[in-house]
Amino acid sequence: MNILDSAGVAASFYAAHRAGLIGALLGAPASCSELASRFGTDRHATGLILEVLRSAGFLEHDGTAYTASAELRSTHARLPGGVDALMMIWMHTPEFLASGAPLRRMDGSSAERAGEYENLVLGLASLFMPSARELAHGLEGTPRRILDVGAGSGIWSLAIAEAHPGSTVTALDFPPVLESFRRQAAAMRLEDRVDVLAGDAYSAEIPEGAFDLIVLANILHLEPAERAAVLLHRVADGLAPGGRIVVVDVFGGDGDADRGRAVYALHLAMRTERGTAHPAETVESWLRQTGVAPEMRMQFNDPMVHGMGALISAPASGMLEAPAAGHLLHAVPMAKP
Ligand SMILES: C[S@@+](CC[C@H](N)C(=O)[O-])C[C@H]1O[C@@H](n2cnc3c(N)ncnc32)[C@H](O)[C@@H]1O
Repeated sequence: MNILDSAGVAASFYAAHRAGLIGALLGAPASCSELASRFGTDRHATGLILEVLRSAGFLEHDGTAYTASAELRSTHARLPGGVDALMMIWMHTPEFLASGAPLRRMDGSSAERAGEYENLVLGLASLFMPSARELAHGLEGTPRRILDVGAGSGIWSLAIAEAHPGSTVTALDFPPVLESFRRQAAAMRLEDRVDVLAGDAYSAEIPEGAFDLIVLANILHLEPAERAAVLLHRVADGLAPGGRIVVVDVFGGDGDADRGRAVYALHLAMRTERGTAHPAETVESWLRQTGVAPEMRMQFNDPMVHGMGALISAPASGMLEAPAAGHLLHAVPMAKP
C-alpha cells in the first residue's frame, strides 16, 4: 500500500472505530444506512469510510450489508482484549505526541505488573502459540530442564516441553500470574512436568547451574537497557554447562519486520514508562558480556507478530561468572512507585 492510501485507511479505521462502527460490524452485518442511523453518523460520510475499509480488506460487502472480514475477525479473536484493547492505546497517540506520557504503566511496581499481567497472559498464549511451536521445532538439542523468566502463561517454554517429552519447565513470575501458567500447562497436559519459582526475577533465588535452557520471552522490553542487561547477567547464573539462553522479543528485520518493530516500539511507549524495543545487536552484546556467545537469530513467520524473533545462544562452555547484579541494580531501580 502506498503512503497516501495507508494514511487514508488509518484515518478511516480510527474514525470508524471511535464511532462504534467496527465493534458493530464485528458483531453482526449491517447496511450503511442502518449504521448511520444507529450511531448518528452522516450517511454519505459513513458510506465513503466503509468503502475505504472494504477496499483495504477490513470489511466485506455482499451487495446489501457490510460485515467484518475474516482477517479482521481473526485479528480481533487472537488479540488479548480484541480490537478495543488495541485501539484504546492507539487512541492515546495525539496526547502521547504532545506530552510523552503513557496511558498505562505495565512496567510499574511488582504489584502493578502482576495486576496487569495475571489475566492478560492467557490471551498472549493464543497469540504466540504458532510462533512458540516454530521456536520449539527450530531449537537444536533436547533441553531437560527449562527456566522461563517472566513466564506469563509459559507458552514459549511449554511449547518446547511439548516438543521434547523429557523436558521439565520452571516458571518464574509473580504469584498471581503463575496461576495462569498452571492453567496453560494443564490445558497442554503438561501439568506433571512443571514447577514454579514465585517472585521478582531481580531477587528470586535461581538455582545455580541448574538449567539447560533459559527462556526470556517478551520481558526485556519492559526494562530500560541497564536493567535488561543486569537481568540477563543474573539469570545466566542458572545455566548448566552446555546450556543455552533464548531471548524472544520484537527485534525487527527487513521490510514488514522493520515496520513491525517501529509500530511495536510506539505502542510499547504508550503502555510503559520505560519499556524499550532493544535492538538484536544490543541484546547480543549483553549475552557476550555475560560470557555466552549469540549463535542464531530466528524470525517468526506469523504475520500477526511480524518483527518478533528469537536470539539463541551457543551452548555455555562452563559455569559463568556473572557480575555482581545486586550492585548494578542499585543504580537502576524499578519504576517509580
Ligand atoms: C509481556 S509478558 C510476557 C509473558 C510471556 N513470557 C510471553 O511471552 O507470553 C511479561 C511477563 O513478565 C512478568 N514480569 C515482568 N517483570 C517481572 C519481574 N521483575 N520478575 C518476574 N516476572 C516479571 C510479567 O508478570 C509477565 O508475566
